[in-house]
Amino acid sequence: MKIALIGYGKMGHAIEEIALSRGHHIVCKIDKDNQKDFESEAFRNADVAIEFTTPTVAIQNYRRSFAADVPVVSGTTGWLKHLPEIKDACKNGHTFFYASNFSLGVNIFFALNRYLAKIMDQFPAYDIHMEEVHHIHKLDHPSGTALTLVNDILKEINRKDSWIEGKRDSDKQIEINAIRKDEVPGIHSVSYESEVDSITITHDAKNRKGFALGAVIAAEFTYGKKGFLTMQDMLPFLK
Ligand SMILES: NC(=O)c1ccc[n+]([C@@H]2O[C@H](COP(=O)([O-])OP(=O)(O)OC[C@H]3O[C@@H](n4cnc5c(N)ncnc54)[C@H](OP(=O)(O)O)[C@@H]3O)[C@@H](O)[C@H]2O)c1
Repeated sequence: MKIALIGYGKMGHAIEEIALSRGHHIVCKIDKDNQKDFESEAFRNADVAIEFTTPTVAIQNYRRSFAADVPVVSGTTGWLKHLPEIKDACKNGHTFFYASNFSLGVNIFFALNRYLAKIMDQFPAYDIHMEEVHHIHKLDHPSGTALTLVNDILKEINRKDSWIEGKRDSDKQIEINAIRKDEVPGIHSVSYESEVDSITITHDAKNRKGFALGAVIAAEFTYGKKGFLTMQDMLPFLK
């Protein structure tokens, strides 16, 4: 496949390495300083663009890709207020694959989190809290992955109605503690705690390879498809 990279930072580099090892061609790399390449023939002819940039610029990158009729796979987090616009664009013929986390392990963890929440809805003695730890360069908080986890919990647990970062004001809230430390690629924990014990599930990413591999496999999955795609389309057995 002809892949364009939008954003050539930590994830852009990791994706390039995996894409090349799977026989793909990187036809274009767009970073902050060569924005005019959105107009290039190489970009227009790409089969897919893989976008990992920053929360504030992602939406304009999606618009520019759609204008060039290039499908987008994006892992940038922190832009979801624009989701309705992207879903509308997909209804009008564009293609977009979004995952708050592309790693297979995290998506197994998401399934486990949903299953555990269904059980724990029946055990009100347990309170719930979450923690996420990431490297100090991460711009958004809580992480997109933490938001996926907490929103899935809120769908299942009737005694909770919202989340809050830091200390809560009501028993109905789930506290999320977002910690920024060193070069940590990403740790997420969900804990249920009663007076007698605690149950904690944790995903701990050892490096960025799992995210990068998932993004390249998502690009392969996107090829030839139309519309708005997610990991649940790609991994239906984890629904
Ligand atoms: N979904 C997932 O599985 C997953 C996994 C890991 C990370 N993420 C998310 O992916 C995003 C990127 O992470 P990262 O670790 O790769 O960050 P990073 O190392 O900071 O890379 C971001 C890159 O985007 C560039 N950039 C800034 N503005 C741009 C623009 N307008 N057009 C094109 N490129 C632009 C930056 O350039 P400068 O350095 O010159 O500013 C930088 O090279 C973050 O939102 C992160 O939370 C998602």
